[in-house]
Parts: sequence; structure tokens; C-alpha cells
Amino acid sequence: MTGKEPLLSAENLVVRYRSHNREAVAVKHVSFDIAPGETLGIVGESGSGKSTIALAIMKLLPRTSTVEGQIKVSGTEVVSADAHVMNTIRGTTVGLVYQDALTALNPVRTIGSQIAEVCRYQLGLSTREAYQTSLSVLSDVGIGDPELRYKQYPHEFSGGMRQRAAIAIALAARPKLLIADEPTTALDVTVKAQILRLLQDLKAKHAMSMMIISHDLEVIREVSDRVAVMYAGRIVEIGERPEVLASPRHPYTRDLVRSAPSVEMPRISFIPGSPPGTGAIITGCAFEPRCSVGHGKPNCRAILPDLNGGPQAAACHYPLEASTKPMPGNPVGPNSSIRLHTKEL
Ligand SMILES: Nc1ncnc2c1ncn2[C@@H]1O[C@H](COP(=O)(O)OP(=O)(O)O)[C@@H](O)[C@H]1O
Ligand SMILES: [Mg+2]
Repeated sequence: MTGKEPLLSAENLVVRYRSHNREAVAVKHVSFDIAPGETLGIVGESGSGKSTIALAIMKLLPRTSTVEGQIKVSGTEVVSADAHVMNTIRGTTVGLVYQDALTALNPVRTIGSQIAEVCRYQLGLSTREAYQTSLSVLSDVGIGDPELRYKQYPHEFSGGMRQRAAIAIALAARPKLLIADEPTTALDVTVKAQILRLLQDLKAKHAMSMMIISHDLEVIREVSDRVAVMYAGRIVEIGERPEVLASPRHPYTRDLVRSAPSVEMPRISFIPGSPPGTGAIITGCAFEPRCSVGHGKPNCRAILPDLNGGPQAAACHYPLEASTKPMPGNPVGPNSSIRLHTKEL
């Protein structure tokens, strides 16, 4: 982190969904900051709570959800904000490229009119100004012949071009923070590389902050300054990208890095087992049943490991390169203060 005031800070964020009298806790006591100009990559398996965080920041979660904790964007508290405040934040302070961006575009309206609408409503531009700004945003995201493209409908765009158009809509009001949720998931390898390049170019050109969400470690590796690794609703490791990916401290991060295809190992391997459901009551570490380091260890089962702080924080009783000694503050044994260390959810 730089010494600057963060552009976004989430503190102790908890998000619950209710459905059919059941409660799913999708995000559990998540805290992180994003500094101005910084790109935070959020990586984790499907269902780990990544999109829920993005929607909580935009205050776009369904009515069946409840949010606790604090989210501050550019000094404004979002969790308690009313609709008027959110209308000024969405678009101008934070732009979101939805996870299903390819289908999020309105199929019966031209691409241009969807960008121009943001310019008119968020920036208060006239129709003519909104048209000019839309053309320049289309060029900005690498869409050639913007006058022609402005008039076309989503079905006239290829998958990669539609993703560029979705990014253009999110960028139209020049947000300070761009959130891109799984920006490359539906794209083939070549187009994926182009979108990653575009995100890097945009970041360099506009000096904005970005939050890139992906289950794909390659995407996170390409674009992030810092990385947060999520597992079962919690951040289990967070730190600078080179350190976290080259020398992970949490066994889950290590397994994730090992299971990602690389030049040396192009074949994908899998982490055995699966994450717990969002309704599961877990007193210890959620990764323990799948963990090659902590599997079966009593404190891993009984005591929730806290993120231990420092530049590369890992929520693990046996962080890697710290041998197999428990972390101080997480005592083991019959009288260990289990209740004190367990955040029950
Ligand atoms: N609208 C919803 N109602 C109930 N549960 C939901 C809803 N949206 C997401 N969830 C659950 O919350 C958890 C986190 O989902 P999500 O944030 O989409 O994860 P990710 O983006 O990491 O794949 C998942 O278990 C998912 O099933
Ligand atoms: Mg998602």
C-alpha cells in the first residue's frame, strides 16, 4: 500500500442471502483497501463470494440480502447510503463490468445509445456532447470505426467486442475505480489476451484504480498490483502480487498456484475436494478438510485463523515457510480460548 488515503476500503463486510428460510453467508468479515491508481486482483473458486463483494460496493445486491460492515468509496459510506447518493457514485466514482457482461448489454438498443445514456445521466452532458464522448470512449476501448459501431446492436458485435463495449459503458462517466467481474471468462484465449492488454492500457492511461475479479489466476497475475485470495467467503491471503503468487503463505493459495496451468506445466491439476456450502457451520478453518498442511489438526478444526497482518497476511495456523509451528495468538490445547478466536457465523 502507498501512504495515500485509500480510494476504497471495506471493513468487516458480512453479506447474507436468505432464500427458502435458509440463510447463506456469502461474505464473512472481509476487509481490504484499494489505493488510488492501484489494481487489486480478487481470486478464488466459484462461489467464494467475489461477485457478492462487487455488488455490495455498488449496492446492487438483491433485497433478500443483508449487509453488515462498512464500505467507503472516495470518502462516502456506501452500506448506509440512500438511492440518491448511490446514483452519484455509480458510474462516476465506480464503474462495474458485470460478470455476465456479454448478456448484460441491452439487445434491442444500439451500443452507442447505451454508452451515451451514461454520459447524459451521469455526466449531465447534452445529446451532442454525449455522442462525441461515446465515440471517444469506444476508441478508448479499442473499437475501431466508432461512428459505425455506435449505431450497431450487440448482436453485430463479436464476443470480444461486446466485452469491450461493456467496459466502455462502465468507463463512460470516467470512474475513479473500475470493477471488472470475470472480464475474460467467456472469451477464447486470443481475445482474452487482448482484453487483458486493454485493461492494462486503460490503467496506464487513466491512472484509475481497478478491482479485477477472476477465478483464473492467469488473469490476476497479468493485471494485479496486489492480490486477495478468497475461500468460502473469507480473504485467506492478501499481499503484493509478486510475493503472494511466487511464495504463497496460505496452503490454499499454494494449491491454487500449483493447479493453474503454466508454461512448465500446461496441464491443469485440481485441488481435491470442494469448498463448504454457504450454510455450513464452520468453527475452524474452512480449508482444513482439503489442506495438506492442516488436515486433521485439532486447532485447524476448532479455531478460526485470523489474517495475521503484515504485508503478506495469511489466515492460517501453519503458514508456509513458518514450518509447522502454530502462529502465536492461536493457542492449541484443551483450554485454548476457542470461543475468543472463533467468529461464529
Ligand atoms: N441471490 C442469491 N441468493 C442466494 N445465494 C446467493 C445469491 N447470489 C449468490 N449466492 C451465493 O453466495 C455465494 C457466493 O456467490 P458469488 O458471490 O456469486 O461467488 P463468486 O463470484 O465467487 O463465484 C455462493 O454460494 C452463491 O450460491
Ligand atoms: Mg462471480
